[in-house]
Amino acid sequence: MSGFNTRAIHAGQDPDPATGAVIVPMHLTTTYKQDGVGGLRGGYEYSRSGNPTRTALHEALAALEEGTTALAFASGLAAEDTLLRTVCRPGDHVVLGGDAYGGTFRLISRVLSEWGLEYTPVHLDDPDQVRAAMRPTTRVIWCETPSNPLLNITDIEATASVAHDGGALLVVDNTFASPYLQRPLTLGADVVVHSTTKYLGGHSDVVGGALVTGDAALGERLAYNHNAMGAVASPFDSWLVLRSLKTLGVRMDRHSANAARVVEFLVEHPAVASVLYPGLPSHPGHDIAAKQMSGFGGMVSFRLRDGEDAALKVCDRAQLFTLAESLGGVESLIEHPGRMTHASAAGSPLEVPNDLVRLSVGIEDADDLLADLEQALA
Ligand SMILES: Cc1ncc(COP(=O)(O)O)c(C=O)c1O
Repeated sequence: MSGFNTRAIHAGQDPDPATGAVIVPMHLTTTYKQDGVGGLRGGYEYSRSGNPTRTALHEALAALEEGTTALAFASGLAAEDTLLRTVCRPGDHVVLGGDAYGGTFRLISRVLSEWGLEYTPVHLDDPDQVRAAMRPTTRVIWCETPSNPLLNITDIEATASVAHDGGALLVVDNTFASPYLQRPLTLGADVVVHSTTKYLGGHSDVVGGALVTGDAALGERLAYNHNAMGAVASPFDSWLVLRSLKTLGVRMDRHSANAARVVEFLVEHPAVASVLYPGLPSHPGHDIAAKQMSGFGGMVSFRLRDGEDAALKVCDRAQLFTLAESLGGVESLIEHPGRMTHASAAGSPLEVPNDLVRLSVGIEDADDLLADLEQALA
């Protein structure tokens, strides 16, 4: 298999056979001329079922995550919904990290629970707690590592064996790491989930999601429901993500390097009570992160000594760090998870501390980022 960056640029992206176009064309068509009834060219009949731009993205994502089937969705949550309603039945049970993304928790606890899905939030970094939460009806352990926004680390290999011992699947949301830094399928996970809205899209201009698996039978069931449930990625959105994958490696290197500078600054700052970053040797998940990731990524969270007011002030004062939800784009963002991205987890076991600030460290010049944080924390 060729190297990661070579795959990111070439997998599924051969020059167009009709014209030689080096970039995969955006096939803005809903339907395809048939050569006689049922005479499909390349298997394409209708763009919900198949579109060549989306096929190229599927092939690229499968190559990057080292899976066999990848599917692109209209959003990360659309991918999650299709996955859970494919592998679970009403009455089944899901074990999920007690610090899962708030939207994932809302999907499971408010939407799929009405359909009959049961769930238990646990500390995934404690294998005994995970084992204790397993039931005969547990179909899925849902893991985000690093997690959003607390940057907790779960041992993928160890959790995969707990899942498999209990007859369940391990699903890993790989949004924070991206396949450049971590490939869960190679560590025993059954399905990888992405919000491609984040690092894979990388430019804050597309909302999308993906599922990748190395299990051919599961891949077929997911592909069937991808079409049957219909939450597919559009040709334009597929094209944008495909364009962005080409630079994923260089972006992630720069995100990680800038985040390391930001962390170095924050740990020394008197207004900061603690910094949550798996690259810090003091982080409880550092050794596992160092084992299963090839870099620590661009997401950094920190807690303020003076509580929520201080956290809100930093968010308000930041200038180069734009106050906004989402993450993973080239520009740096700052947010208050308790009131913004994770507000839907308020009052639940997934509630986040109110003195927490989350940074998505972009790829600007690190000195400018530090200067902005310095004035925001002053
Ligand atoms: C870790 C993680 N997973 C899933 C999602 C959901 O993805 P989307 O917003 O593309 O539906 C998000 C969104 O913020 C996320 O951060």
